[in-house]
Amino acid sequence: MVKKIGILTGGGDCPGLNPAIRGVVFKAIDYNFKTLGIQEGWKGLIEGNVLPLGLSDVEETVDCGGTILGASRVNPYKVDGGIEKVLANIKEYELSALVVMGGEDTLGVSNRLFKERGLKIVGVPKTMDNDLSGTDYTFGFDTSVTRAMDAMKSLKDTGSSHRRVMVLEVMGRHAGWVALFTGISSGADWILIPEFKTDFDRMCQHLLDVYKRKKYALVVTSEGIEMPEMKTGKEELDQFGHMILRKRGVGENLAQLINKKTGIETRSAVIGHMQRGGPPTLFDRILGTRCGVKAVDLIAQEKFGRMAALRSNEIIDISLDEAVAKLKTVNEGWWNLAKVFFK
Ligand code: F6P
Repeated sequence: MVKKIGILTGGGDCPGLNPAIRGVVFKAIDYNFKTLGIQEGWKGLIEGNVLPLGLSDVEETVDCGGTILGASRVNPYKVDGGIEKVLANIKEYELSALVVMGGEDTLGVSNRLFKERGLKIVGVPKTMDNDLSGTDYTFGFDTSVTRAMDAMKSLKDTGSSHRRVMVLEVMGRHAGWVALFTGISSGADWILIPEFKTDFDRMCQHLLDVYKRKKYALVVTSEGIEMPEMKTGKEELDQFGHMILRKRGVGENLAQLINKKTGIETRSAVIGHMQRGGPPTLFDRILGTRCGVKAVDLIAQEKFGRMAALRSNEIIDISLDEAVAKLKTVNEGWWNLAKVFFK
């Protein structure tokens, strides 16, 4: 019987997913596997929303952001009878294996389904947060940092004209990779990330010093930092129990604090979902493509419960266990690099 592979993209979308899906579909042809597109993540397997996916659906998508399959944050373990429906639909559509593209939440569900239900799953690491263990980078990260870097250039132009401090709030959840790379690559004068506590007095003194030299200053903050006496907005949770951090308004709170402590006019901007869309960068197109192709090789070799991963520029496979065991956060070495430029 011809193997049928179901492809699913779960969690937040990110650039690089379409190249990865395309990689799966093209490589599947080499093994004579059929491919089906599961719509909107786990939701599609719960509801039986699964469509044929062929060459003509993917051949023009390498330069497209988002995911042609749609995405959702639906967790089948949190839906009444969700797992039973997933199993029933896998049977109904005669799916021999699944390629699941996701971050820690989606791949965490995959790992449980592999271990508890014996599902034949291989993982593909995607997330703009770059916080999955076992892989040097996840696709989506490079593009979203590139978008944020461009935004910083705009903030620099207007900030230097108006002699202001400009604060950019970026996504990244509880890992500071996006803020760190955005800040270093755009010449920010201070970077705030969740992994390392900020000394706000030191930061403000430093901004005053910088301001004396160049009459403006740039700050990047991760959405996930903690601030003293922050007036928080609504704290909503998604189905994986994650707080929607963007709604806390960290960037604006930070701008007000800087303004109060330094007396310098300060403005904040939130790049939000704009940094998650648009065409993938070269790096994300290549990484997505390589991971998609690798996933099909893993299925052909019956290496289930594994995930394609990038290590020292090679695509290898690691266990899903290793990938989701703990969040990959910014380490001391990277933080020390950022601090070189706080002068
Ligand atoms: O995990 C990716 C991410 O973009 C985070 O950086 C951010 O906190 C979150 O998703 C936003 O989620 P949503 O698109 O559901 O608002």
